[in-house]
Amino acid sequence: MAETNTPLPIKDIDHVEFFVGNAKQAAEYYRLLFGFDLVGYAGPETGVRDHASYLLQQGHIRFVLTTPLTPESDSAKKIMQHGDGVYDIALRVDDAERAYKAATERGAPSVHEPMELKDETGAIKKAAIQTYGDTIHSLVEKNGYEGPLLPGFMPVDKKGGNQFLKAIDHIVGNVEDGKMNCWVDFYESVFGFENFITFDDKDISTEYSALRSKVMASENRRVKFPINEPADGRRKSQIQEYIDFNRGAGVQHVALITGDIISAIQNLRERGVEFLEVPDAYYDTLTERVGEIKEDIDELRRLKILVDKDDDGYLLQLFTKPVEDRPTLFFEVIQRRGCQGFGKGNFKALFEAIEREQARRGNL
Ligand code: FE2
Repeated sequence: MAETNTPLPIKDIDHVEFFVGNAKQAAEYYRLLFGFDLVGYAGPETGVRDHASYLLQQGHIRFVLTTPLTPESDSAKKIMQHGDGVYDIALRVDDAERAYKAATERGAPSVHEPMELKDETGAIKKAAIQTYGDTIHSLVEKNGYEGPLLPGFMPVDKKGGNQFLKAIDHIVGNVEDGKMNCWVDFYESVFGFENFITFDDKDISTEYSALRSKVMASENRRVKFPINEPADGRRKSQIQEYIDFNRGAGVQHVALITGDIISAIQNLRERGVEFLEVPDAYYDTLTERVGEIKEDIDELRRLKILVDKDDDGYLLQLFTKPVEDRPTLFFEVIQRRGCQGFGKGNFKALFEAIEREQARRGNL
């Protein structure tokens, strides 16, 4: 690794753990609809007493779905409070002890001290700190670990049959009104992240709903965390709707990168993934807005894929509907052609689409 001045160098996102009410069924949802391979399982059969976890993988994306087996467990309380959602954005570090020490010395609340997890496939070291809401960051050290899974998981070979999704591009947190800058400071002071892009409510608003957003990025730019807070509009911000239903701050969406968004969205739609509706009129002015692009506009219109650009290129993206009954967590599929932005130009189109859904639920 190159020399770095960062006190706590983060290499990448290792995996994302979700707490869900029924992991056995949720695993099939991610396998059958999103095409993830089910590659590992941990539960009573592997010596775990109070929870069951399913490990899903596609490209470099690893999701762990965990469900409590007893009402007393911590995850049961969190699911009761927030519904199903992201609990842990686990970050890969070179040295878990050093990272934990650096993070807690800089004010990050501890969740647990460094500990070793091991089985016959090898050992990893893991510590954890608290971030917004009930979300945590595990700090995972895997130096020398050769196992394909996390220690404690037994291998499962149940294919999902999709390889269009390659890696996590960014993970967005929604925080309470007035708290965005506190969390920006947190990622700056604890992790040495930089404020990569800022959007104010003039950038991201419609007649009804508004938000402010700052994107925090790791030094190597492999980890990007936009932080959103609600802003005043004529009606309730979609960020406020999230916070009301999630009962506090939490992960709003996980963006998954693809090298071929047309095939990816085609495939996901065929599998039954529901995406936000995009008005047809969006495509009438597309070339005017983004200039010449490689993709066929008719294909983009048919699949309802959004396009945005900046000085370096353009990006294609689309957002799923919430994957829970509460209007909380959703996913984004994104392909970058040079552009390092997040689809600012699409916020208005996206917002208007989200608001149509929000109005249907009677929350606008
Ligand atoms: Fe995004």
